[in-house]
Amino acid sequence: MKKIIITVDGYSSCGKSTLAKALAKKLNYVFIDSGAMYRAITFYFLRNNIDWNNTGEVIEALKNIHLSFTYNEKYGSSDILLNGENVETHIREMAISDKVSDVAAVKEVREFTVAQQQTNTASKGIVMDGRDIGTVVFPEAELKIFLTADPAVRVERRYAQIVLKDPTITREEIKKNLEMRDYLDSTREISPLRKAEDAIVLDNSHLTQQEQVDLVLQWANEKINS
Ligand code: DC
Repeated sequence: MKKIIITVDGYSSCGKSTLAKALAKKLNYVFIDSGAMYRAITFYFLRNNIDWNNTGEVIEALKNIHLSFTYNEKYGSSDILLNGENVETHIREMAISDKVSDVAAVKEVREFTVAQQQTNTASKGIVMDGRDIGTVVFPEAELKIFLTADPAVRVERRYAQIVLKDPTITREEIKKNLEMRDYLDSTREISPLRKAEDAIVLDNSHLTQQEQVDLVLQWANEKINS
């Protein structure tokens, strides 16, 4: 059967990874969370006191970063490894969310990450989520989704996720972080977040996860069978 590339882009906390993961599972495709890669690099920079405004330091640091993914049996998803260390829990912390958009705006960081993401094209059957996947990483992808949701719904979803690990977190902190990242991600100079011309906009504010997956699977099957 023909295999395709599916891209899922959109603002923070629209449920991109949840959708992408479910699609990959249904289709038996590889799921790649590109945001995890930017988060892991941010984690490395913070841990090693790398100044990401200093190009020389960034270039040297990137030489020491190896990113890979490993399957997490417990959660049925993939965890990111930074130089072999599973950093999945660390990269979801607020300290990383606060800085990741600054790091993701650095040219050398984007070149490093995009090159790794594109090596996956050799074998199709990929679902990748992020901000520039349909525009820059896989402009030739057969199915591109641009996911949106009401800001209030997004805050509530992210809050429900984070409060389990950090009971002190407030909705206000989450709202500020999402607004800041949306602003930085869509206004940065290099590959800013924007809808690819041929992407389908999907507003999932009032859809259940199942409805959303069923809808996109239908679109995917149309492409696979065309
Ligand atoms: O998907 P996420 O929220 O985990 O992504 C974290 C940050 O990484 C996001 O705010 C912007 C950046 N990012 C990016 O610039 N390009 C991507 N393809 C994916 C993420």
